[in-house]
Amino acid sequence: MRLDASQRPPDELKRLASLIRLFLELPEPPEQILFPKFGALRERLESTLHSGDGDKIEEAFLELYAHVHMNEALYSEDERRRMDEAGGYWNHAGGLSPILKAQPWIHPATISADFGAGNGLQGLLLQKLYPHGKTVQIEISARMAEIGECLREWFGIPSNRVSWIVDDVREVTARGFDFIYLNRPVRPEGVGRDFYSRFAEDVESDASPPIIFSIADCLRDFLSDRYEVFYGDGHLTCLRPR
Ligand SMILES: C[S@@+](CC[C@H](N)C(=O)[O-])C[C@H]1O[C@@H](n2cnc3c(N)ncnc32)[C@H](O)[C@@H]1O
Repeated sequence: MRLDASQRPPDELKRLASLIRLFLELPEPPEQILFPKFGALRERLESTLHSGDGDKIEEAFLELYAHVHMNEALYSEDERRRMDEAGGYWNHAGGLSPILKAQPWIHPATISADFGAGNGLQGLLLQKLYPHGKTVQIEISARMAEIGECLREWFGIPSNRVSWIVDDVREVTARGFDFIYLNRPVRPEGVGRDFYSRFAEDVESDASPPIIFSIADCLRDFLSDRYEVFYGDGHLTCLRPR
C-alpha cells in the first residue's frame, strides 16, 4: 500500500496502513442497516489501492471511517433534554490523528477513557491497534452505546476490554484513567464550564495524572501549569503532567 510519505512521520504512516488494513479485513457489518454504504465504500477503497495515489487511498479511507463513525447520534427525548441543558455537542468525528499519535502513550496496563464517546469508534480503534487494560466509553446516548457494543464484537475486541458508562459526562469523575480522549462533549459555556473546571480538578488531583488528547481543545484554560501542552496542531492538543 503506497501512502503519501510527505504528510506524516514514518511511524504514523505505518499505523495508518495498519488501520486501513484492519478495515479491509473486517467481515461484513453485523447490522447492515446501520452501515448501508460500508460494502460500496470499502470496494472504492480497495480499487484505490492499486492506483498508487496516496491521497486517493486516504480520501477513500476517510469516507469509510466517517461512515462507520456515524455522524447522526440517536437520542431519546430525555437524553436530548439533558444534552441541551449542558450545551452538548452532537456526534462529530475526532478524526484519525489522535489514533495515529496515541501509540507511545498507551501501554498494556493503560486504562483509557473517551468522554462523549458516540458509538465508541475512537476508543475501539485505540484498543484494537494498541491492546490495553480497558477502554471506558462515556456517552449520554444509550442507543449509541448499544451500537458501540455491536462495533466491539464486529472488531473482535473481547468484552472485558471495553466498558460503557451511559450517563452525562458531568456525572463521571475523570480520576483513575491513564489516557483520556476528549472531543468537546459540551460547550465551555454556562453549566458546561463546570464540567471542564471539575474535570481539570479531577485530573490534577489524581495520584497519577493522565495524558490527555483533546480535540478543539478548551480544557487548557481550566488547567494549571501542572499540565503542559506537548503537541498541538489546531485540531488536536496533547497535554501531559509536568
Ligand atoms: C463531538 S462528539 C465526539 C465523538 C467521539 N468521541 C469522537 O471524537 O469522534 C461528542 C459526543 O458527546 C456526546 N455528548 C454530548 N453531551 C454529552 C453529555 N452531557 N454527556 C455525555 N455525552 C455527551 C454526544 O452524544 C457525542 O457523541
